[in-house]
Amino acid sequence: MHYLITGHTGFKGPWLALLLLSRGHRVSGFALDPPDGGLFKRAGLADLLVYDSRVDIRDAEATAAAMSAAAPDVVVHMAAQSLVRESYRDPRYTYETNAIGTLNALEAVAATPSVRAHVVVTTDKVYRNVDQEAGYVETDPLGGDDPYSASKAMADLLAQSWIRSFPGPPTAIARGGNVIGGADVSRDRLLPDLMAAYARGEAPLLRFPHAVRPWQHVLDCLNGYLTLVDALLAGSGLGQWNFGPGRDSFVEVGKVATLAAELWGGGAHWNLDDGEHPHEANLLALDASKAQRELGWRNRLGFRDALAWTVDWERRVHGGADPLTVAQEQIAAFENLR
Ligand SMILES: NC(=O)c1ccc[n+]([C@@H]2O[C@H](COP(=O)([O-])OP(=O)(O)OC[C@H]3O[C@@H](n4cnc5c(N)ncnc54)[C@H](O)[C@@H]3O)[C@@H](O)[C@H]2O)c1
Repeated sequence: MHYLITGHTGFKGPWLALLLLSRGHRVSGFALDPPDGGLFKRAGLADLLVYDSRVDIRDAEATAAAMSAAAPDVVVHMAAQSLVRESYRDPRYTYETNAIGTLNALEAVAATPSVRAHVVVTTDKVYRNVDQEAGYVETDPLGGDDPYSASKAMADLLAQSWIRSFPGPPTAIARGGNVIGGADVSRDRLLPDLMAAYARGEAPLLRFPHAVRPWQHVLDCLNGYLTLVDALLAGSGLGQWNFGPGRDSFVEVGKVATLAAELWGGGAHWNLDDGEHPHEANLLALDASKAQRELGWRNRLGFRDALAWTVDWERRVHGGADPLTVAQEQIAAFENLR
């Protein structure tokens, strides 16, 4: 099967490409330039792909041309401006990339007859945050206070409307939460900030140590997306799906930082940053029981393993190990947990 990933040069994309390659699929992608230090460059991913190009998803014509040139069987649309703080800095870019970019992806898929299944990736942040303890279920109302959350809720609604309004290949929406894993170099995400600081022997500053967040390993979330693709190809799987971690993975930021420091070793530690910071939503918990019940998907890694695998990747690569080999070893270990 030939998969095309939009947004394959960031954090999740290269892991998804390597997971698909390990399962014997062919993989293509288009996105913006890969960041330095990310898995795309460090794993030499460009050499492993059928088709790899730089396309701005805000450009409808270029998106359609790239989709048609790749002619994939399956599309996983992930290209996005994915950071909340960046969305306050440049809301227009965020809305154009996340909302209009999703429209462009949907139109491009509709114009590419080879496509047999399409998954649109949104996020847990699409739900209207009413500070509820219970996890959000797929039928809860959407909302979004900050520009990133609103732009992803727009993308989600846009995809739902598109699916109902226009004929095309089976298309479903996957809502994932906060994910961790090796080689994330995004600014303003906890694990990348911690790993970079511990590697330099510095104490990172934490903005909200008591904020509780869900922590899921990136491979568990991506395995959810691929379980959904399999369902679409088998004639089911339409609709919206949550792929979040279990309740044991809801942990305070400060505890995550402390445990990560212990796993890193060498006296690593963190300090409190008591400056002013833009609003970030309080705990958003996903209830993933629908995906468990109807797709047979489940998380294979609990919180401690997810964190230990993340630190392990960073430590080994920091110590000189080959990034591609470490990623492939982790993927093989993950597949053995089936
Ligand atoms: N990482 C998380 O914790 C998390 C949580 C929930 C949802 N998500 C969603 O998962 C998807 C992937 O997230 P990620 O962590 O890999 O993000 P990332 O920021 O690391 O990567 C984003 C990818 O999108 C591409 N991209 C950005 N703007 C683009 C544009 N204008 N045109 C074309 N490509 C563009 C980038 O080049 C990159 O390949 C996104 O849709 C994100 O919203 C991520």
